[in-house]
Amino acid sequence: MSHEKVETNIGLMMILIVLVISVGGLIEIVPLFFLKKTTEPVSGLMPYNSLQLAGRDVYVHEGCYGCHSQMVRPFRAETERYGHYSLAGEFVYDRPFQWGSKRTGPDLQRVGGRYSDDWHRLHLTNPRLVVPESNMPAYPWLNENMVDGELIADKMRVLRILNTPYTDEDIANAPASVEGKTEMDALIAYLQVLGIHVSTRR
Ligand code: HEC
Repeated sequence: MSHEKVETNIGLMMILIVLVISVGGLIEIVPLFFLKKTTEPVSGLMPYNSLQLAGRDVYVHEGCYGCHSQMVRPFRAETERYGHYSLAGEFVYDRPFQWGSKRTGPDLQRVGGRYSDDWHRLHLTNPRLVVPESNMPAYPWLNENMVDGELIADKMRVLRILNTPYTDEDIANAPASVEGKTEMDALIAYLQVLGIHVSTRR
């Protein structure tokens, strides 16, 4: 019987398993490359401006993703708490995206506009000032570290190669627009635009 042939020949079985998994995988993955919903920005989404982009870097190098996800899942308990679930089109300018899966703190995908800049400044300088029971670390040095404008302009150039639509003007103005800004200013500018392009508040 042909079935017996497969079951007794491990080489043949391996080849067939690889074949089945590859075909199954391709059928699941390839259509996503052609779906507008997964490849095009949601309406109104703008690339990060120079200050927000610098803030995103602070988020990454301070390891905020170690405790915060940016991925609201499509479940009632999540959407009631955070707002609209995350859409693929919200992340097209994130390289790489900061979805994460560890939630020691709350998800931050919809935190944009939820608190004032002043609240964030206090909270990041020392979370206990505004949330007494918080166990989030304090990041007071962000108030002193300055943003490097030339570096941000270089990063924008690289992102443009990867198709983020920055103009020559955006890049030329980058160093001036982050002049005198601290990493704290940048991080707050970034947090304030997280998830604001999809209407979430009810
Ligand atoms: C060790 C884990 C941990 C790390 C690292 C961490 N946080 Fe938090 N974060 C928390 C916890 C716990 C809370 C909830 C208590 C509070 O609001 O302080 C929180 C709350 C927040 C909130 C308020 C969210 C809301 O919806 O109320 C923001 C904004 C935030 N964190 C930003 C950051 C940023 C930005 C960084 C990186 C600079 C960071 N966190 C790093 C644990 C962490």
